[in-house]
Amino acid sequence: MKRIIVAVDGYSSCGKSTIAKQLAAYASYRYIDTGAMYRAVGLYALRHNLSTDDSIIAALPDIHIDFAPQSNGTQHTLLNSEDVETQIRTLDAGNRASQVSQIREVRQFLVEQQQAMGKEKGIVMDGRDIGTVVFPDAELKLFLTASPEVRAQRRYKELLEKDGAAPSFEEVLRDVNERDYRDTHRAESPLRQAEDAVVVDNSDMSREEQFEHICRLFNERVSQS
Ligand code: DC
Repeated sequence: MKRIIVAVDGYSSCGKSTIAKQLAAYASYRYIDTGAMYRAVGLYALRHNLSTDDSIIAALPDIHIDFAPQSNGTQHTLLNSEDVETQIRTLDAGNRASQVSQIREVRQFLVEQQQAMGKEKGIVMDGRDIGTVVFPDAELKLFLTASPEVRAQRRYKELLEKDGAAPSFEEVLRDVNERDYRDTHRAESPLRQAEDAVVVDNSDMSREEQFEHICRLFNERVSQS
């Protein structure tokens, strides 16, 4: 059976990583969370007090990002061999990631690595520019959306479950709206839907419905390839 590339793009907290992971497991494909790579660069910038674009660009050769498979089937992000999976998931690291993702050199640095990971195909990659920039020829492009309120509610619940001390719902909603604005208005590779992407609005879809829908699309594309 032919192996394909699946690009999953969309706004933050749309459940991209959940569906991308499920699909990768279903297809026995490799899953890559590119947001985690921007978060790792953001965390590095936070830890080293790199406040200017130039200082971040100069540090890129010292930033090595890997993914370590875990025995439970998940994977953890490594920053210079240190497991930073928990540290990159904070609001601070997310905001710093959003800022560093606007720097052209940071994007080039990460996009090259992402393209290399897709050489053998058989990959599900999620992010913001996967179907438009990283893999414009991906056989299946999904663009996930959900209303800002639904997404803020999901992220709020996630933050509460993680450390029990989440910011207020209003703060999380503001953060979602700010991040959407930055993601769609930045000069470098702004988030936009690829012309040939399939849009999936999951505001009112159960996880099971969404998974079935996406598996159907996947099987169709594999049989057409
Ligand atoms: O998906 P996420 O919230 O983990 O992403 C963190 C930040 O990285 C987000 O603000 C957008 C940015 N990002 C990006 O610009 N391009 C990608 N391919 C993935 C994430």
